[in-house]
Amino acid sequence: MIVPLEYLNKKYFKAMIKNPYQIRFFIDLVQREQKLYRILEASTKEIKYNLSKAEEIRREIYEKMKNYSYHGAMVSPLEGPIIYCIVRILKPEIVIETGVANGASSTFILNALEENNKGRLYSIDLLSKELQVKEKEIGWLIPKELRHRWNLHLGDSKELLPKFLQQLGYVDIFLHDSLHTLEHVLFELRIASAYIKSGILIADDVHPSWINKICNALNIEKHELFNDLLVLKK
Ligand SMILES: C[S@@+](CC[C@H](N)C(=O)[O-])C[C@H]1O[C@@H](n2cnc3c(N)ncnc32)[C@H](O)[C@@H]1O
Repeated sequence: MIVPLEYLNKKYFKAMIKNPYQIRFFIDLVQREQKLYRILEASTKEIKYNLSKAEEIRREIYEKMKNYSYHGAMVSPLEGPIIYCIVRILKPEIVIETGVANGASSTFILNALEENNKGRLYSIDLLSKELQVKEKEIGWLIPKELRHRWNLHLGDSKELLPKFLQQLGYVDIFLHDSLHTLEHVLFELRIASAYIKSGILIADDVHPSWINKICNALNIEKHELFNDLLVLKK
């Protein structure tokens, strides 16, 4: 079981007692290894190793973020390492994500691609700047040395995603983290799924009541929910 040490102190336990969200977070943290094992069918040794490597990336991101009072929205400390682990284990050629903002999810993905020594990340964002540190450019968290595997495209995913998928012809891993309405999530997942033969679809900020609708729409049964991060295996 991988639980970062900073979650195992008195201060954190006090916060958990006061705030039910923290209890949920801690349970999810403890369960994520088992859920990853079920969805990826990889060895627990490999999962443990990659989750602990991802903790180093998470720490770097939170270190950069601590100077800013407004962070915007980004993958949580629970979710980033899960995404990293999936990319490390699947070793994809093509990853597409919608929703970049500060670039936390992109940083986890690009670190994993670099470790894999293969693959590219195609990211799409509206450049709304609503959900990021305002004075920074989009994707500012992404280290310079990882950007050679990154293509950023600015615009609405409703327009850009179908174009990209058609141009690329296939995708191995798709991450939705843009506009979190059921209609938009279904739009992105449906079209991405049509271009995945065997791979993974991930959607952040998923309400539990959406899961059946998503699984039915995509005709996919195998899935795991990590807090509000839905991972589907095709
Ligand atoms: C939650 S943030 C992304 C956080 C990012 N994944 C991270 O971990 O740092 C959502 C982003 O989605 C973008 N967005 C919202 N609607 C969009 C759309 N229709 N097409 C493309 N991007 C969109 C916003 O501009 C915003 O930057």
